[in-house]
Amino acid sequence: MKIPQRLQPLLEDGIIDDVLRQLKSGKEAAVYLVRCGGHTRCAKVYKEANQRSFRQAVEYQEGRKVRNSRRARAMEKGSRYGKHEQESLWQTAEVEALYRLAAAGVRVPKTYGFFEGVLLMDVVEDADGQPAPRLNDVMLTPDEARQWHAQLVREVVRMLCAGLVHGDLSEFNILLAADGPVIIDLPQAVDAVHNNHAARLLERDVENLADFFGRFAPELLQTHYGKEIWKHYANGDLTPDTVLTGQFAETTRKADVRGVLREIDAAIKEEMQRQERMREAE
Ligand SMILES: Nc1ncnc2c1ncn2[C@@H]1O[C@H](COP(=O)(O)OP(=O)(O)OP(=O)(O)O)[C@@H](O)[C@H]1O
Ligand SMILES: [Mg+2]
Repeated sequence: MKIPQRLQPLLEDGIIDDVLRQLKSGKEAAVYLVRCGGHTRCAKVYKEANQRSFRQAVEYQEGRKVRNSRRARAMEKGSRYGKHEQESLWQTAEVEALYRLAAAGVRVPKTYGFFEGVLLMDVVEDADGQPAPRLNDVMLTPDEARQWHAQLVREVVRMLCAGLVHGDLSEFNILLAADGPVIIDLPQAVDAVHNNHAARLLERDVENLADFFGRFAPELLQTHYGKEIWKHYANGDLTPDTVLTGQFAETTRKADVRGVLREIDAAIKEEMQRQERMREAE
C-alpha cells in the first residue's frame, strides 16, 4: 500500500520494513499492520490532539509527573511549547504503561517502543492467526463470560498493584486472543497514587466489565468488585492473589440508638439527683 506519511520516517530509519494494511482507524488513532525484520506488528499512529475526543480530559492528567519544571510551567500556561509537551506526555504514557504492565504480568501486547509518534507492538491474534476481535464483537457462553470476567478482574487487581488504573476499560478495549483476553489502549491510564479520580475510574472500569459479561451471565450484574478492590488497596493489603468476594457491604452497622437513649436517661437522672442534693444542702 502507499506508505502513510506518518510512517515514512520509521521506514527511512529502518525501524519498519513495509506497511501491509490499515487495521483500524478510530477516533484517537489509526492502527496499521507493518513488517519489521520478518515479523508482523501493529503500528499505532496517534491523531493530533485537536482530532481526539474526551480522554485527554483533566481528570486523566492529574498526578502525571512532569519532572522538568520548565515543561511543567509551560504546560500550565498552555503555550504552544506547553501544548506540544502535553501532547508528547499523552503519547508516551501508553508505551510506558505497556512496559510497566507487562513487567507486572498483565496481559497486554508486547511493545517494541515509541518512535516519532508511533507505538510499535505485537499483533494480538485469534486462533487463525488473524488480528483478534474486540470482546464487543464476539458471542460468549455463560461459562466463558464467567471465566473471562474473573480473569479480567484479576488483571485489574494486578494493574492496580503496579500503580495504574486503565480508566477506559470496556469491551471495546479488550481483544479476545486465542488464549484469552488481552487489554489494549492505555494512553489515558491513571496513576493510582497521585490521581484523586483513580478510585472512581477503577470502579467504573470494573462496573463496565460486570455490565458487559452480565449480558451472558446475569448473576455478574450483582457483583461489586470495584469498591472491594479499592478498599484493600487503600488499606495497603492488596496483592495479585488477594481473595475477593464481589460482595462489598457498605458500612451499614446500625447506630445503637437505644444505648444512646439509656446514656441520656442516666445523665438526666444524675443531674436531677445532683440538684436534689444541692436543694437539701441549702
Ligand atoms: N496490538 C493489537 N493487536 C491487534 N489489534 C489491535 C492492536 N492494537 C489495536 N488494535 C485494533 O485497533 C483498534 C484501535 O486501537 P485502540 O483501541 O488502541 O485505539 P483507539 O485510539 O482507542 O481507537 P478507537 O477510537 O477505535 O478505540 C482496536 O479496537 C483493535 O481492533
Ligand atoms: Mg480503543
